[in-house]
Amino acid sequence: MNDEETVALTAGGHTVGKAHGNGDASVLGAAPEGAGIEEQGLGWSNPNQKGHASNAMTSGIEGAWTTHPTKWDNGFFDMLLNHEWELKKSPAGAWQWQPVEISEKDMPVDVEDPSVRRMPMMTDADMAMKLDPAYRAISERFHADPALFSDTFARAWFKLTHRDMGPKARYIGPDVPAEDLIWQDPVPAGPTGYDVAGVKARIAASGLSLSDMVATAWDSARTYRGSDMRGGANGARIRLAPQKDWEGNEPDRLARVLAVLGRIAAETGASVADVIVLAGNLGVEQAAKAAGFDVTVPFAPGRGDATDEMTDAESFDVLEPLADGYRNWLKKDYVVSPEELMLDRTQLLGLTAHEMTVLVGGMRAMGTNHGGTSHGVFTDRVGALTTDFFVNLTDMAYSWHPVDGGTYELRDRKTGKVKWTATRMDLVFGSNSILRAYAEVYAQDDNARKFVDDFVAAWTKVMNADRFDVAA
Ligand code: HEM
Repeated sequence: MNDEETVALTAGGHTVGKAHGNGDASVLGAAPEGAGIEEQGLGWSNPNQKGHASNAMTSGIEGAWTTHPTKWDNGFFDMLLNHEWELKKSPAGAWQWQPVEISEKDMPVDVEDPSVRRMPMMTDADMAMKLDPAYRAISERFHADPALFSDTFARAWFKLTHRDMGPKARYIGPDVPAEDLIWQDPVPAGPTGYDVAGVKARIAASGLSLSDMVATAWDSARTYRGSDMRGGANGARIRLAPQKDWEGNEPDRLARVLAVLGRIAAETGASVADVIVLAGNLGVEQAAKAAGFDVTVPFAPGRGDATDEMTDAESFDVLEPLADGYRNWLKKDYVVSPEELMLDRTQLLGLTAHEMTVLVGGMRAMGTNHGGTSHGVFTDRVGALTTDFFVNLTDMAYSWHPVDGGTYELRDRKTGKVKWTATRMDLVFGSNSILRAYAEVYAQDDNARKFVDDFVAAWTKVMNADRFDVAA
């Protein structure tokens, strides 16, 4: 929320209702979680008074903000801006702000008896709407223009309560606003009628490497987060600020790859978003072929290309990956371990531990590490979708040794020679018992086909994570 939305929400919320602290807080019973079962989760029972309406006690602050606390009006700003305020204690002993002077007619009516008037109050947060210079300018504007206040509140309330519902394609019912709002991360519908096979043929002939194709598709899709359904490959925002400049996206490499894929999109009528994913799918198919398996990675066309005007760049900043175990990359060292960061990305992408395992193993085998590092690339056949990562990780011919820089060496037990290098995001698949169980399944020499099939399924899940416009 920006400053205007913050002022509108706080003032609007406190236009109705009251704070409750009308009594001696020390006599209250146990808090909800500690109270007897017969209290049914309500807690803080008041042994002396009826405990509700004029005796209710919750925050310990007492009073309403406005003269008519059951009406939507401009009363919050009337009260806040037309009076001077001083700190006083509520009956429950909480500090709150009270007008230095107020006439009877401006005082809030009692919650039970409208003929009785009570003292209004403001919290510290309410006083910020007057005392902070930036908030005050907004408060004065809203005070002078109630229609602007109501509209700003309505929009901010809608944003507050719908922010985590994802794109508009997920909304249902007759009340869905026709207007597109920038925080919904709008993406126009993309073309579906183009020649998919023709696009793939052009990508194949473009000279892009397998790792360029797979890494770019992955980077485009990996921003998806199931927590609020933002991010993902749809919209191809990877070609817009701020994403195109994120370190995790390797900006120089990305610009080079996007120049090629963008040209193919323009020539074929496909969206750039679709071409990015198609390139990744093609890379996976080529890698599977190199491992001896013919597969077709499922593809659903129709992604659109968002523009800068459709993108709230500031709110996309927070989607920046700080680490990506799938591409064996950490922006810098964090308090949280690299493997925990990988797990966090996994849950945001909606993947299971099993899907994480198959994807990481496959991406190492395809050589898609950030910056082209060789950590975890436990294979002599880079670019083939093999199970080599798991075979060599679990091979007792090697021992594992920490070295400088938070990395590890896998050394031949007989000769002591370094065979491979690794990070924590590789070795966790051997050290964690659950991940090891999955790793050992894929290390089995009769599971090469299963590995490819499972990889393709998990890959497709990531590429389509944000396709709410496509029926499951
Ligand atoms: C700036 C941040 C905010 C703070 C610190 C804050 C604090 C409080 C406090 C201490 C109470 C009294 C609770 C009680 O004693 O029962 C209260 C009540 C209330 N707040 Fe807020 N609030 C904030 C923002 C908001 C927002 C954004 C809304 C809604 C848009 C809102 C709506 C309400 C309502 C309706 C009540 C009255 C509830 C009742 O009548 O029982 N507040 N708030």
